[in-house]
Amino acid sequence: MFSKSSLLSYVTLALGASSAIAASIPQRRAQEEYQLSRRADTNGYVSIGYFVNWGIYARNFQPADIKVDELTHILYSFADVDPTSGEIKLTDTYADTDKHYPDDSWDTNGTSVYGCFKQLYGLKLKNRHLKVILSVGGWTYSLAKHFDFVTNEAARATFVSSAVTMLEDYGLDGIDIDFEFPEPEQKEAFGKLIVELRTAFDAYQKGKGDDVPYLISAAVSAGPDHYVNYDIKAMDAPISFWNLMAYDYAGSWSNYSADQANLYNGETTGFNTDQAIKYFLGEGATPGKISLGMPIYGRSFEKTAGIYQPYDGIGTADQSGGSWEAGTWDYKALPRPGAKVIENTTSVASYSYDETLQELITYDTPNIIKMKTEYLVKNKLAGSMWWELSADKQGADSLIATSKAAMGGLDSTPNHVNYPKSKYDNIKNNLGTTPAEPGSAPPSGGGEGPAPSSSEPSAPSSTAAPPPPPSSTEAPPPPPTTSSTPVPTPSPSTCKRK
Ligand SMILES: *[C@@H]1O[C@H](CO)[C@@H](O)[C@H](O)[C@H]1NC(C)=O
Ligand SMILES: *[C@@H]1O[C@H](CO)[C@@H](O)[C@H](O)[C@H]1NC(C)=O
Ligand SMILES: *[C@@H]1O[C@H](CO)[C@@H](O)[C@H](O)[C@H]1NC(C)=O
Repeated sequence: MFSKSSLLSYVTLALGASSAIAASIPQRRAQEEYQLSRRADTNGYVSIGYFVNWGIYARNFQPADIKVDELTHILYSFADVDPTSGEIKLTDTYADTDKHYPDDSWDTNGTSVYGCFKQLYGLKLKNRHLKVILSVGGWTYSLAKHFDFVTNEAARATFVSSAVTMLEDYGLDGIDIDFEFPEPEQKEAFGKLIVELRTAFDAYQKGKGDDVPYLISAAVSAGPDHYVNYDIKAMDAPISFWNLMAYDYAGSWSNYSADQANLYNGETTGFNTDQAIKYFLGEGATPGKISLGMPIYGRSFEKTAGIYQPYDGIGTADQSGGSWEAGTWDYKALPRPGAKVIENTTSVASYSYDETLQELITYDTPNIIKMKTEYLVKNKLAGSMWWELSADKQGADSLIATSKAAMGGLDSTPNHVNYPKSKYDNIKNNLGTTPAEPGSAPPSGGGEGPAPSSSEPSAPSSTAAPPPPPSSTEAPPPPPTTSSTPVPTPSPSTCKRK
């Protein structure tokens, strides 16, 4: 069980993290109260974005493309879990640990990690507010029942110890669990997993002498059929963030064209985000731990006369047009040429409609994102969560930037950079660099444009001019089969039938 005293020390440590930033006692008091009442273990709003490891291929979205000044947490997705042993496993070693980016040396002695983990760790060293969390599961692995281990106590212990090993080896700040979705008979066990993870993370933190807690988050459903299967009372204290998947309310499984991420109402689907938030709060979830998930993609309906109408099909994938799989579209490809955009400020939802093609795509516009952000601020929630980073627009129409501007200050709780027991020498030695001071590059309000440091890949640990890279960097190997049949379905939260 999660004892009261360990909870207290967890809270104390969280406060310790903020007090390191505060200059004076009165300021610190104010900050502590602010934190206790609103922010859980952060000191500003969070902006949590999924980075998908298959995004480095056709989508060509690399870690250096992450807008570090608009985000506080990266959910690196997905890792998998062995359904029997409970051990966490990586899913694409080329993307995760092997790919050599332009500045990566091939001439290193000792053991070095490359791939996205090295790049993300480099971003962390330069941007001390940026926390990187490994996301385990997702729709595909969940559907394949890989979370069946959860009712086995010994397998949970294996999950927990492999989680701690992953944090230390890859230089991470926490673990995110995307279990879609617990069955009633798994409810208690899933709660126990979160409690056991917290106990282990706190011990790990204490053992390292770190001031800042390691993070635990879970992607949770906004659908009543599923959210009743979370043991919210048991999980709220140990969890850092409830990442509410407030999308996928409508799609190919629906009988009518409808809104996929409406805040209120829910004509024909019965789903809306407000009722889900009220449920979590009513069950005792801390408001400052709930992050509001928002889609950076649309879902299409063909041959329909308009919204809440019958339709016929969802269209076909058009990869060059921004649809990586049938029925879903990157936000940056929307609206489609010739379609007009309709915003409903009562239900807080939007869609585009092409009268000629009879095609409707439900997706969030910047105005709708702004209204949702005002809702999360008013309800004292933690902040925003995004599926997924590669699909956003640049500039004023960026959904993440729009939301950030409406929230104001972002969380600047420092990340972790010290991993003395990593199996990788370059993680152990901070990539041969000196980490930035915490708070030295806080995400300050306002301002378009690329993040100052995000476009430079992290320096390799060897400073000598690297030899010409092997030909494999010129033409990276095709993704392994696990990622060419990707896991990309955006974690439908409510509607897909089992
Ligand atoms: C690796 O070791 C060799 C031999 O000791 C040395 O010449 C070389 O500079 C080392 N390379 C790096 C990147 O440290
Ligand atoms: C679609 O309609 C059928 C027939 O009325 C109904 O049984 C089913 O539950 C509906 N599905 C959804 C997702 O609403
Ligand atoms: C907004 O959506 C609701 C249903 O969700 C609908 O009843 C209302 O008519 C819509 N408003 C407009 C202006 O379309």
